Amino acid sequence: MCGIVGYIGKNDAVPVLLDGLRRLEYRGYDSAGVATLADGRISVRKKVGRIANLAALLAESPVSGHVGISHTRWATHGGVTDDNAHPHSDQSGRLFICHNGVIENYGTLRDQLISEGHEFKGQTDTEVLAHLIGKHYDALTGEPGSARLVTALRAALTHVVGTYGIILMHADAPEVIIGARRGSPLMLGVGKGENFFASDVSAIVAHTQQAVYLKDFDIAVLGADDFEITSLLGGASGYEVSKVEFSAEDVSLGEYPHYMLKEIYEQPETIRDAMRGRLSREDATAKLGGLGMTAAELRNIDRIILTGCGTAAHAAMCGEYIIEALAHVPVEVEFASEFRYRQLPLPKNTLVFCISQSGETADTLAALREAQRKGLRTLGICNNVASTIARESDGGAYMHAGPEIGVAATKSFTSQVTILTLIALLLGRIRHLSTTEGLRIIDELEALPGKIARILEQSEHIRRIAEKYAGSQAMMFLGRQFNYPIALEGALKMKEISYIHASGHPSAELKHGIIALITPELPTVVIAPHDSVFEKNVSNIEEVRARKGPIIAIGTEGHEEALRRFADDIITIPACPDYLSPILTAIPLQLLAYHTAVKLGCDVDKPRNLAKSVTVE
Ligand code: AGP
Repeated sequence: MCGIVGYIGKNDAVPVLLDGLRRLEYRGYDSAGVATLADGRISVRKKVGRIANLAALLAESPVSGHVGISHTRWATHGGVTDDNAHPHSDQSGRLFICHNGVIENYGTLRDQLISEGHEFKGQTDTEVLAHLIGKHYDALTGEPGSARLVTALRAALTHVVGTYGIILMHADAPEVIIGARRGSPLMLGVGKGENFFASDVSAIVAHTQQAVYLKDFDIAVLGADDFEITSLLGGASGYEVSKVEFSAEDVSLGEYPHYMLKEIYEQPETIRDAMRGRLSREDATAKLGGLGMTAAELRNIDRIILTGCGTAAHAAMCGEYIIEALAHVPVEVEFASEFRYRQLPLPKNTLVFCISQSGETADTLAALREAQRKGLRTLGICNNVASTIARESDGGAYMHAGPEIGVAATKSFTSQVTILTLIALLLGRIRHLSTTEGLRIIDELEALPGKIARILEQSEHIRRIAEKYAGSQAMMFLGRQFNYPIALEGALKMKEISYIHASGHPSAELKHGIIALITPELPTVVIAPHDSVFEKNVSNIEEVRARKGPIIAIGTEGHEEALRRFADDIITIPACPDYLSPILTAIPLQLLAYHTAVKLGCDVDKPRNLAKSVTVE
């Protein structure tokens, strides 16, 4: 999940590299560095901390050149130090590399290199890789330059076990930068008189919207006016230049103080985009051509597995309730990190959905590959077009939510649940749902954006509640049925951006131990929309109240009276069917976490220790 940017072309590299790193900082921000090549020499500047620290260092001690590579790091191997910051050089100091991924056998390689006289400055796997490539480069005879560098890279990569998205350059080959990928994302941006590498297209979309997404084993040689892609496995590698579906504007902050708030407020539009062109009133159903399955094939499915990590797993849990309620198909949710290692009986008519905003999460990708290894059909629900999970799935449905920059997932969650609801409608209508029922579901889906907009109008009210409880040492979130996953999601949002310990539970679990935690200092958020279990939730609120625990209730407009008797604070959502309530109840909890984090002075968009896309195990 590190951020990588490379540039070669007509302009000075440093401004392009810094701008790109800033747009990738959400992917990792422990340290950052750049290396540029000018007059046959490579200069490097790198610094612990945010991109701003690197920019200050460059202002003080600038480097120049029209060729450069750069990196913002999320530490995997080796502590957060200047020496461990990328780019890393080989023994000669003439080859530099930036890397995203994990070289699993780096210890063995490092010992071997040390025995051959290599000396290392840091503790990273990346520095080992730099020395390995440099060793092969120096061992080759023949003309120094790009061809020799590619040969050395190929030789070195055959010794590597693990994942990499790398870009590198050599002082002997000033006319190129080289990229290679296996298991970690890397793309090319195709410009005019200039070309780019990046680990995520948002880094370079301000310069070009022409993108080539590298595949595993690709090796790309990038010049200012051309590029060539071959495969480590031999021969040329097919590729396509695709148009990026969003603009630089989409990844800019606009008038918002944080990306997270911007993305929370985008949800009326992103929910519309998730449904755009996918609702058919004529057939009273959802149309999801990307699944690539006929009605007969879908009807033949007798079990669904939904898998993902973090928030995506919570969306899967919502999907479980929704698909079972609307389509009566048995659904099982598996955390991807568990699924990939479980001895799970997998009958052949099982359909697996892999849910991932980034489309690059290592555990979810591994779960996909494990399901395919067992011969199961796997479908992706992703946001990033041409991401690895999207490309390796047998089909799927894109979320069309636009880039999600804030580390805390918000719009991606509600888009995922919306698409799972469309899938439930589609499956229900080829089984037992009537035309009338299908049309009613479509009416309710189309009313969602307006209802979300109404909830967003309560942001100030929610901010006041957040500030009231921001000093809490812990929080508890309770929900039932469709909203039990929302209790988990609300707790995760609070944990990951305000660092307040929070836990989510099925409301009825209160009596099975959790009630021991209730004190006047522990606020409990109870998600209690006016649904089939409303009275049960009210009883749980009374149990908390009886022990003087503060209550924040999420209720339905017009049904606050029963809540007002016991809750200290109430946030309402517009009335909606039970199965759509998770999409609405998630919004107040996103805002509650956001305002709490702001009150506490936390870094909302780049919370400590986190990265937007976990591309390592
Ligand atoms: C959620 O707020 C976190 N950012 C994290 O749990 C995230 O949902 C998880 O890492 C999965 O990411 P993905 O959707 O890109 O696969």
